[in-house]
Amino acid sequence: MTKLASCLWVTCPIIIGAGPSGLATAACLKKKDIPSLILERADCIASLWKLKTYDRLHLHLPKQFCELPFMSFPANFPTYPTKNQFFDYLESYKNHFGLEPVFNKTVVSAEFDHRYGVWRVVTLGPEQEQIEYVSQWLVVATGENADEVMPFIEGMCDFGGPILHSSFYRNGRSYQGKDVLVVGCGNSGMEVALDLANFNARTSLVVRVEISDN
Ligand SMILES: Cc1cc2nc3c(=O)[nH]c(=O)nc-3n(C[C@H](O)[C@H](O)[C@H](O)COP(=O)(O)OP(=O)(O)OC[C@H]3O[C@@H](n4cnc5c(N)ncnc54)[C@H](O)[C@@H]3O)c2cc1C
Ligand SMILES: *[C@@H]1O[C@H](CO)[C@@H](O)[C@H](O)[C@H]1NC(C)=O
Repeated sequence: MTKLASCLWVTCPIIIGAGPSGLATAACLKKKDIPSLILERADCIASLWKLKTYDRLHLHLPKQFCELPFMSFPANFPTYPTKNQFFDYLESYKNHFGLEPVFNKTVVSAEFDHRYGVWRVVTLGPEQEQIEYVSQWLVVATGENADEVMPFIEGMCDFGGPILHSSFYRNGRSYQGKDVLVVGCGNSGMEVALDLANFNARTSLVVRVEISDN
């Protein structure tokens, strides 16, 4: 059951999400002496990187293209840092700017109240407790792939084996000698297929055909 909302007026911008974008936004505001309130549904920063990535993941782009404002990667990091190095960097970034996200706060709605010219942002906590934060400014930094998208594929209900989204894949250890089909050949699909092959799975990769009119 949902407990009734308590209401908190906030005199600074609210930022939803403590991933790289939310942290960077808060740091840029801090540089201008503007505090902010970061609301994060997980109980850690960069939950995508910490909780939803496979073991062998490194940055897919050279590090100079992935650093956040006002703080470079340590010089001893390789060109393609590991996911743990990237996470450590984000942790030091957070500490360097003294950012203190409020964890375990899932934003369930954000509405602009035209009468008072404020945002009403409602969060749900682990005990189903609701808090309504009210602020003039809102930044949404909830990510474009923080939530997995599992397509419906005809026949998948009848398939006997396990079906996994890449955000739940860690490594190929349990797939040794098995037939595995990887659907999609973006960065994750390609790398997961390679990882499976390295673990001696019998891996196939399906690639969608783009049908064009011309
Ligand atoms: C396998 C993989 C490899 C990648 N490699 C690279 C790379 O090499 N370089 C690169 O720059 N990018 C890479 N990316 C892209 C990745 O999206 C970015 O690195 C980065 O994580 C985006 O940051 P973000 O803060 O915008 O979003 P996210 O990291 O997704 O952070 C969003 C945060 O918002 C929180 N949140 C979401 N909804 C709510 C809610 N309702 N209430 C409260 N909190 C909420 C989430 O818990 C999360 O912590 C990769 C992504 C994947 C999946
Ligand atoms: C977040 O919620 C989990 C599970 O309810 C709890 O174990 C953890 O201590 C909480 N963390 C914070 C920072 O509130």
